Amino acid sequence: MRTTLRLQLRFLLPLALVLVAAAYLTLPLVDRLTVRWFARDLDLRGDLIANALSDPLENALATGDTASVDALFERTVLDERLLALGLCPPDNRLSQPTRAFPAELDCAQAARLGEARRPLFKAATGAVHVRVQPLRSAAPQAPRLLLVHDFSFVEHRSKDTRGYLLVLIVAMGAAMALITVVVAQLSWRGWVAGARAVLRGEGLLRPLSPPPPEFAPIAVELRARLRGLEDEYRRARGPESAWNAERLRRLLATELHDQEIIVVSNREPYLHERDGDRIVVRRPASGLVTAIEPVMRACSGTWIAHGSGSADRESVDDHDRVRVPPGEEDYTLRRLWLTEDEEQGYYYGFANEGVWPLCHAAHVRPVFRESDWRRYRAVNRRFAEAVVVEARSEDPVVLMQDYHFALLPAMLRELLPRATIITFWHIPWPSPESFGICPWSQELLRGMLGSTILGFHTKHHCRNFMETVDRQLEARIEHEHDTISHEGKETLIESYPISIEWPSPEVCAAWPAAKLCRERVFARFGLRSDARLAAGVDRFDYTKGILERLHAVERMLEKYPEWTGRFGFVQIAAPTRSALEEYRAFQARIESVTERINTRFGREDYRPVHLVAEHHDQDALIELYRAADACVVTSLHDGMNLVSKEFVAARDDERGVLVLSRYAGAAREMTEALIVNPYHVEETADALQRAITMPAEEQRVRMASLRDTVREYNVYRWAGRMLSDAARVRVRERIADRVAQSREP
Ligand code: G6P
Repeated sequence: MRTTLRLQLRFLLPLALVLVAAAYLTLPLVDRLTVRWFARDLDLRGDLIANALSDPLENALATGDTASVDALFERTVLDERLLALGLCPPDNRLSQPTRAFPAELDCAQAARLGEARRPLFKAATGAVHVRVQPLRSAAPQAPRLLLVHDFSFVEHRSKDTRGYLLVLIVAMGAAMALITVVVAQLSWRGWVAGARAVLRGEGLLRPLSPPPPEFAPIAVELRARLRGLEDEYRRARGPESAWNAERLRRLLATELHDQEIIVVSNREPYLHERDGDRIVVRRPASGLVTAIEPVMRACSGTWIAHGSGSADRESVDDHDRVRVPPGEEDYTLRRLWLTEDEEQGYYYGFANEGVWPLCHAAHVRPVFRESDWRRYRAVNRRFAEAVVVEARSEDPVVLMQDYHFALLPAMLRELLPRATIITFWHIPWPSPESFGICPWSQELLRGMLGSTILGFHTKHHCRNFMETVDRQLEARIEHEHDTISHEGKETLIESYPISIEWPSPEVCAAWPAAKLCRERVFARFGLRSDARLAAGVDRFDYTKGILERLHAVERMLEKYPEWTGRFGFVQIAAPTRSALEEYRAFQARIESVTERINTRFGREDYRPVHLVAEHHDQDALIELYRAADACVVTSLHDGMNLVSKEFVAARDDERGVLVLSRYAGAAREMTEALIVNPYHVEETADALQRAITMPAEEQRVRMASLRDTVREYNVYRWAGRMLSDAARVRVRERIADRVAQSREP
């Protein structure tokens, strides 16, 4: 508020100064012009009178009839403006002056005024206009006519004009000030967006015809000015207040009236596993879980997921619910049990052999089986029914996660028509041609369009989705509003780049010092204290570019042999979907390439590559991130990739270098990383070399900037933006409902 006021003052003060200067300059100018106009008028008038009097006057003078001259003069000065008349003979002795002739004026003075072209004279009675006019005959001895006009009325007129002008300037100033204040108060972004739309020729509500070409340079200039203004406004307003758990909770309470949030995902946030006699709780390796879990802790509510832990059934109540996180119990986890057939067809089959490779350009062919499709549909229906059971109102806010549930939004829309359904697609969306090979592509699209909001990580994925719908369905797509209307329902398609929870100062304080982490990790992997360490942390998935990364490590050792014995690459690869042949074959391939590199460059006491195919908990990962000189993310295609963000969050010492694939969504935000094409082995090898030899100061500058980005664009902002959009849509829908009801007879 105070910033807006400051901003307004910055507009208003210069405006006031400009207006005062305008008044100061224009008023005397207007005075001068008025005088000049009237003086010219009186000159013309004088000529006219002299012409009219010439003949009778010359006749009277020729006969010496001074009485006639007097009578003629007295009749003439009856004119309202003409004050006096007189005659100036060649000797300049004034004769026949009329009664009101100013005593202080004589012929000599009048002649001087005429020569100086300054016809005004200040008489005791007021300002007068003086003109000496020869008679028509112009005989050498003929007197000249001296005309004296009253000029005081001009002063009155000039005073009036000044008054009007002053009022006009003040009124204009007030109007401009008012407009400035109103504009500043209006939603700045909306205004700027609107203005830009107009400049683009789109209009605010519906497309206008584009501006004629002759306006193009002006439009370009205006656009640049607007952008400048917008930047200045942002700078003046300071950084947007930070997103955190508290702000998200407030948003939920105010904009969504404490509506309960229901999350649906395949993967559960906590698995209860049997370990001998004990039950242990494990966090799965899943970017989705990493992101959603802090949001659920902040929002409370219910998370529905497949119960896949070996001791999951033993840990729930009669309604298959358990409060989590263990010991804190912030929200409810509702587990849904799947038969082996269901898991095989829906999860392994359709989701992970079909949709996963379909959406990732990683050169693995998708497999589509009719039986998997049937299971996928059935399991989606079961989850929809579970949402209805868990919902406490008829209009809950439901957050659907990922490619396991493409059909669920439309199914739920049938069961709970008033629900607000936000679907987030955590993986990339391919081109329309790639997606089109799915035999059930239209059914998947129709299912997804049951959502109120459909979110992707990047604008590129949103565009791909819209184009896919355009090719496959009869739907109305409004690009300027990012909406798709299908079968009477509108879906907002928007990009929401996902992120992580930024660690609090307390959490950071509990981490072991980076130096200690380094010592521990180096000891574990038998690295010399002067060695460099690069790390990769992934699920064992063919989309992650682990093979390409190993090729780059191999090439680096080949190209820069000085690193042999002094460089270690640790690859954590959490086992995943190992029931699938594709994954098992991939793992075997990685193991053999690792073996080959180690044989080629290793020695008895040295192995350059350490492949650890185990699940690691968060503490172990933090230790590795803090120990490494470089973190290498070389995904062949990735929706976002949260490992890159976790690495940056762990480096509060502002050291370490991120090598990041340009095919990961994260590359759009994390531009200070060393961005590589993972298919280009040479380029990736050089980036690795550059990372482990980068001067400390350059590391610090890059890391500090990356940390600013991830801190600001954290997961609460991700959820907050989606939920505020949902709140806006809800308000619009409620109003539309009321209007529809009021129209019903
Ligand atoms: C990706 C998907 C998530 C999934 C995660 C782990 O990040 O987008 O939905 O949970 O991989 O895969 P998994 O099959 O083990 O759940």
